[in-house]
Amino acid sequence: MSQPIVLITGASRGLGEATARALAQMGARVVLNARSSDDLVAVAGRIRSAGGTAEVVVGDVSAPEICERLIQTALDRFGRIDALINNAAMLEPIAAIGDAERDDWTRHMAVNVIGPVLLTRAALASLRSRKGRVINVSSGAAVHPKATWAAYGASKSALNHLTTVLALEEPEITALAVAPGIIDTEMQALIRERGKGTMQEKDYQRFVGLHERGELRSPDEPGRALAVLALHAPHEWSGMFVTWDEDRITELVQQHTAS
Ligand SMILES: NC(=O)c1ccc[n+]([C@@H]2O[C@H](COP(=O)([O-])OP(=O)(O)OC[C@H]3O[C@@H](n4cnc5c(N)ncnc54)[C@H](OP(=O)(O)O)[C@@H]3O)[C@@H](O)[C@H]2O)c1
Repeated sequence: MSQPIVLITGASRGLGEATARALAQMGARVVLNARSSDDLVAVAGRIRSAGGTAEVVVGDVSAPEICERLIQTALDRFGRIDALINNAAMLEPIAAIGDAERDDWTRHMAVNVIGPVLLTRAALASLRSRKGRVINVSSGAAVHPKATWAAYGASKSALNHLTTVLALEEPEITALAVAPGIIDTEMQALIRERGKGTMQEKDYQRFVGLHERGELRSPDEPGRALAVLALHAPHEWSGMFVTWDEDRITELVQQHTAS
């Protein structure tokens, strides 16, 4: 595939930025989205300085017009979409079901579930014709429930389900939900900042301990795995929920990154 076109949301920092950089290094042209204009433009600038091609669409994935603009920008600029990576997400509300407000639930689902659905729908025609891929960034929280993380666990679980249904409905497309591991990003900082006194102590201390012992992973390796999956995931895997470092993915990454 020559210079595949890949859209990635939540590309201003963390895992999304690492994935965008890896994609560009692998020869993809990327269309980047997030809300923070300065950070997003800086990421695109670094990709261009390294010889890559990056377009930017600033805005909130919960807004239907931003989803439309993101897809349309890719089509206008490059004429096709080879892969969509739904990476942008929020963790909050961190709250017991008995305490979380309706508006917080609505906002959460709009960002973590409805945005990816709208983006997928808008990209479908091009993805079908390109036999493209949809990579939904999920989480272990989709299958390992935690008190006070009902919204996040439910939204990631919903994303896994959507991935499976997309695979059933769209035989030309390869859809995967991927758990990226526990990574040293702002989302982890948010857990340490807001989880105290709300999360169960054992859960909270686990994340604090990983940070204190320097055991949080850099986003670079999972970012590389997401990039390889977006470009090369085999169609037989369509519909699955996978973990970024399971053996078959490590083999695929080695196969496509060996120099
Ligand atoms: N970090 C972990 O340990 C971990 C573990 C499992 C799964 N994940 C998943 O990995 C993905 C990336 O998370 P991360 O750890 O890199 O988090 P992060 O550092 O908080 O980055 C989130 C990214 O999403 C963007 N974003 C957030 N809300 C958005 C919105 N409404 N519209 C558009 N962009 C939005 C942020 O940029 P702006 O603020 O500029 O919009 C940022 O670029 C998420 O799907 C997360 O659930 C992370």
